Amino acid sequence: MAKALFTPLTIKNVTLKNRIVMSPMCMYSCFDEDGKVTDFHLTHYTSRAVGQVGLVIVEATAVTKQGRISVHDLGIWSDEHIDGLKKLVELNHAYGSKIGIQLGHAGRKADIPEAIIAPSAIAFPGMKTPEAMTVEAIHDVVDAFRQAARRAKWAGFDIVEIHAAHGYLINQFLSPLTNQRDDDYGGDRDRRYRLLSEVIEAVKTEFDGPLFVRISANDYIEGGNTPEDYVYYAKKMKSQGVDLIDCSSGAVVPASIDAFPGYQVPYADKIRNEAGIMTGAVGLILNAVQAEEILKNGRADVVLLARELLRDPYWPYRAAKELRTTIEAPVQYKRGWDA
Ligand SMILES: Cc1cc2nc3c(=O)[nH]c(=O)nc-3n(C[C@H](O)[C@H](O)[C@H](O)COP(=O)(O)O)c2cc1C
Repeated sequence: MAKALFTPLTIKNVTLKNRIVMSPMCMYSCFDEDGKVTDFHLTHYTSRAVGQVGLVIVEATAVTKQGRISVHDLGIWSDEHIDGLKKLVELNHAYGSKIGIQLGHAGRKADIPEAIIAPSAIAFPGMKTPEAMTVEAIHDVVDAFRQAARRAKWAGFDIVEIHAAHGYLINQFLSPLTNQRDDDYGGDRDRRYRLLSEVIEAVKTEFDGPLFVRISANDYIEGGNTPEDYVYYAKKMKSQGVDLIDCSSGAVVPASIDAFPGYQVPYADKIRNEAGIMTGAVGLILNAVQAEEILKNGRADVVLLARELLRDPYWPYRAAKELRTTIEAPVQYKRGWDA
């Protein structure tokens, strides 16, 4: 019987050779603070392509300088970033992986020397107070996502993921805990969704490949967004042409989260089956049997792994062994694998 984990998935014009996705992880490795790809990024991501991950998603990459989580973030706010990103794409393609990029803006969670912005002037505990954004500033951010999508296309990325999770700018607009605006971008669910809606439309004008959105499906705090709210948002995203919702949770405000293996899988399951859209499951997915269960039971369409892939860039080989199947190895590694 075919293993779900190693079954290809075609989304629009892109076919992933398996369902294993490297989850975006900030590496804070732009040591010159210029947002440019370094040798570290080339080695780090390409190792996972050699390791046979179906899709690598590059870490949260800042669409503006002001939108960096830290001064060491990767950036895509200027055309000068394209060459390094293109090299990264080419290397990953050379080893048979598809590659996406997560486009992000940190909003009030930007730990940078400059002034920071957010929907409302409410600080994340322990951080600087942001400036509440004017409508003009919101339009500028939407345009920055559009420009970033254009650069991602030039660089050759197969997939774009919009970062709307973990309490960063778009998530700050979506959550009533952080968005206390009384204009068209705040108030009820539809108005809080407006920024994300505009970002999706802006990205689509430049990038026609598969579009993912990462969400935090639960704020875990009374008065915050719930998984039910995200079924509502997911239906909207689906109608706008988003292909897959990558279901993470939390980090809009500090909250105590009981994180156990697969703790976020119910969100991917609920959204997939109630909104009728492809989803990705992420969070403490540790072994192949667990991943296979998620896929086979129709709880998600792909699994994303973060820390497991830091521990073992060759996790897909281990997973194949665990599921008693074989996968292709780069020709140079064949002798090790066939033995
Ligand atoms: C070092 C590190 C950096 C991360 N950076 C990002 C990021 O850039 N964007 C994002 O959406 N999630 C980020 N995450 C969260 C992971 O993508 C993932 O959702 C989380 O670690 C849970 O998956 P895991 O249990 O497989 O590690 C990061 C996690 C780690 C450990």
